Amino acid sequence: MKMLITGANGQLGSEIVRQATDMGYDLLGVDLPEHDITQPETVNRLIQDYGPSLVLNAAAFTQVDLAESQEKLAWAVNADAALNLALACSGQDIPLIHISTDFVFDGKKKTPYLESDPVAPLSVYGKSKAAGDDHIRDNLENHVIVRTSWLYGVQGNNFVKTMIRLASERETLNVVADQFGCPTTAADLANALLTISRAIFSSPDIRWGTYHYCGQGIVSWHQFAQAIIDMAKKYRDLKANQVNPIPTSAYPTPAIRPAYSAMNCDRILKQFGVHQHPWKDSLKQTIHQMLTGS
Ligand SMILES: NC(=O)c1ccc[n+]([C@@H]2O[C@H](COP(=O)([O-])OP(=O)(O)OC[C@H]3O[C@@H](n4cnc5c(N)ncnc54)[C@H](OP(=O)(O)O)[C@@H]3O)[C@@H](O)[C@H]2O)c1
Repeated sequence: MKMLITGANGQLGSEIVRQATDMGYDLLGVDLPEHDITQPETVNRLIQDYGPSLVLNAAAFTQVDLAESQEKLAWAVNADAALNLALACSGQDIPLIHISTDFVFDGKKKTPYLESDPVAPLSVYGKSKAAGDDHIRDNLENHVIVRTSWLYGVQGNNFVKTMIRLASERETLNVVADQFGCPTTAADLANALLTISRAIFSSPDIRWGTYHYCGQGIVSWHQFAQAIIDMAKKYRDLKANQVNPIPTSAYPTPAIRPAYSAMNCDRILKQFGVHQHPWKDSLKQTIHQMLTGS
């Protein structure tokens, strides 16, 4: 069984490659600049030459604020490349696992989003990701789309690293307290995706479609930041010990974010036996790895 992983150098992609390699998978991880998946010829050639039994797409344009000014590139990577992959997989009858986002929702709900809830993205990033998901649904039956949220890992830039850096430089940190969601580690998500991969390899009865996977527990960015500081200070001298709560209105950004984007993960548990992990436990493990290298 051969697995092609796109976006293999990203925070999620690198974790999938690491875990899949440990599990003994036969895999090929590809990324920019050698393999630009916005180019249909590149995608077709990759799939022809490597002949994967499964494709896992972890590539995306993920800089949410930059996407507002780089709309064309965001659509090329998040929507057009997803179409390229769906068409190439459909031609060869290859299943595709694709990653999507909580930012396809508008955040007006007060209870965790279900897979069946209507999407209403607020940003270029959210709109381009929703369009990519639609391309896959419209062109390839054998697909699993996994929406996730507030992703961070040991590799790459993310909120956790930013908070630790800022807390070591400044005495005061202000973080928005009126946006709520579910932090998710790249390690937990990669593990969930590899469980789904194994199910696809071993069972003919997959319920294709859209699933949610995120850490267990709902927090504000402010609560998340305070937990990061509390855990990181066991390893580092930090200047800031307390995080001040501020409203979104006091921290304007180019992209509008959903005020609430918690997701219900019952479906992935029922279909694939994938469990959520309490967000604080996963944060503790990731910070330990980040700050000790082990
Ligand atoms: N980060 C989050 O908070 C978050 C939340 C919800 C959902 N997600 C979703 O989770 C998935 C993984 O996100 P992530 O945080 O791991 O992203 P990431 O760290 O930004 O990794 C994405 C990877 O895709 C590569 N890439 C970009 N354009 C490409 C192209 N044209 N062809 C081939 N590769 C390309 C990037 O390369 P460069 O770095 O060179 O551009 C990068 O290595 C994405 O689908 C994202 O939308 C992320």
